[in-house]
Amino acid sequence: MQTVLRTPHSETELASRASFAPAARLVREERQERQVQTSGLPLSVRGLRKSFGDNEVLRGIDLHIPAGQFVAIVGKSGCGKSTLLRLIAGLEKIDAGSISFGDAKVQPEDVRVMFQEPRLLPWARVLSNVEVGLGRDRSSSDAPARAEKALAEVGLTDKRDQWPSVLSGGQKQRVALARALVSRPRVLAFDEPLGALDALTRISMQRLLQRVWRDQGFTAILVTHDVAEAVALADRVLVIDEGRIAHDVTVNLARPRERGSAELAGLEGSILSYLLSAEDRT
Ligand SMILES: Nc1ncnc2c1ncn2[C@@H]1O[C@H](COP(=O)(O)OP(=O)(O)OP(=O)(O)O)[C@@H](O)[C@H]1O
Ligand SMILES: [Mg+2]
Repeated sequence: MQTVLRTPHSETELASRASFAPAARLVREERQERQVQTSGLPLSVRGLRKSFGDNEVLRGIDLHIPAGQFVAIVGKSGCGKSTLLRLIAGLEKIDAGSISFGDAKVQPEDVRVMFQEPRLLPWARVLSNVEVGLGRDRSSSDAPARAEKALAEVGLTDKRDQWPSVLSGGQKQRVALARALVSRPRVLAFDEPLGALDALTRISMQRLLQRVWRDQGFTAILVTHDVAEAVALADRVLVIDEGRIAHDVTVNLARPRERGSAELAGLEGSILSYLLSAEDRT
């Protein structure tokens, strides 16, 4: 996990920050306002276990995410982050425990995952690629209009008739985001969606993710290797270690967050120290 090792902080500094001093600015009003218009679903995970053969990956995950919250998940490579997302999205079978979304009857379109690779269909133009995200509704008469709207949300209206092959990496990811958004998901999980992008494109995508999350109010779960990204975007950062949630860190800072601020750096340092101590045990 090279990306988390780029911190300039010393071990001692990291350790001294681990107590999480109370954050400066509370954003209760903002949250309350957003919750009123949220379309997100709450997510409860109880005693979740998953093994692949002898490899016991998740050993009892317990977690509650309120509707509309933005949660980031970090942890060393192979700790089970993608497995957890796949279980939440119903792409993998659980061994034991439960995953529930409040009292709502969940449709497949309600829970979406966006992956690191855009996974676009090379033989379909951009607009058709977005329509794929509508699933069963793809054949409905308003499908093209809905896809156009989703493309507009990611700022790619002018690319609607292009083939995926002519798009840049960042543009492909924006098409993948539009495809995920088009069904108006109530839980949207991201599996390192920005990992392959250059630094500037990455920051612009982070802003876009934040904007669509605020506009649409879905519950967001972002898996990332980048702790700075996690604390910049999320309400809460979960650290997975040894098959369980080892740390649950609240990021109680107003948005938009100032990159490089002392508060963000302090939180980032604390989380990095958790990750480094997990790494040291292996
Ligand atoms: N379909 C599968 N069959 C067998 N083993 C699997 C399967 N999927 C995942 N694993 C194993 O489960 C463990 C967790 O994998 P997972 O992909 O969830 O890790 P991760 O935390 O997402 O890692 P990374 O940060 O590298 O993406 C790994 O040891 C992996 O080899
Ligand atoms: Mg993964």
